Amino acid sequence: MQSQARRVVFTGGSGKAGRHVIPELQKRGYEILNLDLVDFPDASANVFTLKTDLTDSGQVFNALTTHFNFAGYEGPHVPGPPDAVVHFGAYARNMLVPDNLTYAANTASTYNVIEAACKLGVRKIIIASSETVYEVCFGQGDLDYTSFPLDEETDVNPMDTYAISKLCGERVARGFARRFDADIYALRIGNVVEPHEYERDFPKYIAEPKVRKRNAWSYIDARDLGQICDLAIQRDGLGFQVFNATNDTITATFPTRQFLEQWCPNTPIAREMDEWEAPLSNRKVRDVLGFKEEHNWRKYYNPDQ
Ligand SMILES: NC(=O)c1ccc[n+]([C@@H]2O[C@H](COP(=O)([O-])OP(=O)(O)OC[C@H]3O[C@@H](n4cnc5c(N)ncnc54)[C@H](O)[C@@H]3O)[C@@H](O)[C@H]2O)c1
Repeated sequence: MQSQARRVVFTGGSGKAGRHVIPELQKRGYEILNLDLVDFPDASANVFTLKTDLTDSGQVFNALTTHFNFAGYEGPHVPGPPDAVVHFGAYARNMLVPDNLTYAANTASTYNVIEAACKLGVRKIIIASSETVYEVCFGQGDLDYTSFPLDEETDVNPMDTYAISKLCGERVARGFARRFDADIYALRIGNVVEPHEYERDFPKYIAEPKVRKRNAWSYIDARDLGQICDLAIQRDGLGFQVFNATNDTITATFPTRQFLEQWCPNTPIAREMDEWEAPLSNRKVRDVLGFKEEHNWRKYYNPDQ
């Protein structure tokens, strides 16, 4: 089912991912209100930010029924809730603040956004979950993944606080999708790569594969993440869903099976994988939402030169 959603409240849009995702959504015709603690980094962009602390439920309810910008005062009506909410605001890793605050802030923010959106009648909510729920990223020691590919069916039991906070968010999403019969899609976002980072970081990633084990040799281009958010907003009727949000291919110069057999000899490969398929597989988002990546890493860094 295709949605008519046009007015989208985006949380955490001033961060690393949001600063690229919001312009991608604007290009596709959405009207965006950014809820963040800090201004949108590109002052010349047409992005209105309402300073909102997402850990405060009252602020979240209020912000979801406010004007998107000052032009809103010209219209005939006071604003109602948006058509969709995309929730990215968070402490985006451990070690920014003490663990108890990472947990408290991330779970409260996600709960507040989902609750307010559902109770205001918003039918589509996208939340940022994380690759870290697959246990290895912030796990203690040199852990192995349970099996490849890492897909949405994999049973996950992360040990670190940030990943646990993200998994709690998925659980809240699942419960509220059921209670309100809403569509809430959790994106297990891979390591986000901004356009300027390919040239800077990929030579090392390719030369020293070990450094990317914690990201499962996978990534998401921040602009392609924008496409995924658009597709998720457009696609109605799926209830609660989890989607890995990654690009198509492994960040290595050997085909996936050969590479994994060398670097993870003790980890089973549970199904046939495409020749270059990312170990943190995006097959579901391609098959279900129709994602077609535009920014494969090889467009920006040629390992053969
Ligand atoms: N960057 C990655 O590689 C990555 C990978 C997987 C998942 N994610 C998730 O994607 C989302 C975006 O990540 P990012 O890299 O852009 O993070 P970021 O830290 O760059 O941006 C997060 C934004 O959220 C805002 N924020 C934090 N607490 C807030 C609060 N209480 N109220 C309002 N705003 C608040 C911050 O000001 C910031 O602008 C996060 O939920 C993160 O957990 C990121």
